[in-house]
Amino acid sequence: MRLYINIDHVATVRQARMTIEPDPVRAAVLAELGGADGITVHQRIDRRHISPRDVELLMQTIRTGLNLEISSRERMVDFAVGVAPKAVTLVPESRQEVTTEGGLDLGAAEVRQSVATAIERLVDEGIRTSLFIDPDNEAIDHAAALEADAVELHTGEYANGSTSQEKADELGRLARAAEHAHDAGLAVHAGHGLTYENVVPVAALPRIEELNIGHSVVSRAIFTGLERAVRDMRTIVDAAPSRVARPGEWIHPIGF
Ligand code: PXP
Repeated sequence: MRLYINIDHVATVRQARMTIEPDPVRAAVLAELGGADGITVHQRIDRRHISPRDVELLMQTIRTGLNLEISSRERMVDFAVGVAPKAVTLVPESRQEVTTEGGLDLGAAEVRQSVATAIERLVDEGIRTSLFIDPDNEAIDHAAALEADAVELHTGEYANGSTSQEKADELGRLARAAEHAHDAGLAVHAGHGLTYENVVPVAALPRIEELNIGHSVVSRAIFTGLERAVRDMRTIVDAAPSRVARPGEWIHPIGF
């Protein structure tokens, strides 16, 4: 399982004072030392946290790979092509949202058209493409038809489930979606809302090969330091398959 750490929140703290610290580039180095397989940042159109300067310096600094989240708008794709990260994950973006709120609406023809144009350009540049979608078959079929390399299944509904039944239902949905995406020839990633407490059943799903985790790790890092926070997540994720007897039934490896 690849563990990508999203460091947007480090930039959010910096932007709270419009200053130069904490620097997400330093955070990325510590995340790598803690065992991250890659670094994820979301370059939003409004630049509310990560800036083009961050992305450019991350490309020069990190030793793993950068997964750049962007909307499929032309100017963001232009930016991504200029940066040439290892991977681009296309996400929906609206101005008012606090964070990405759901997967791409690939049922809408204009969204599909915009994503198709973006994928074509990114593929020409040798950049791996992933589409952030809700875990449903229709979206997966659209992603396969668009010839994306991967889908990132939105785990927010699972994470927000308020009862164990709701969580189990959402986990089942993720498991079926992961199988369907794999059968359609897509690599399967997952992310959003994953924490030290809820990650194990998702990390244990056989078809999922990459997780993107931000908020929970950066939150813990305030108390433990980032390198340690990433290492703890790494330990949990790596132990996950052997820890799940049945979905919903697992033992925490480091005893939270
Ligand atoms: N994946 C995508 C597409 C996201 O937009 C985000 C949040 O920026 C994440 C994963 C990480 O979510 P979280 O910060 O809740 O771990």
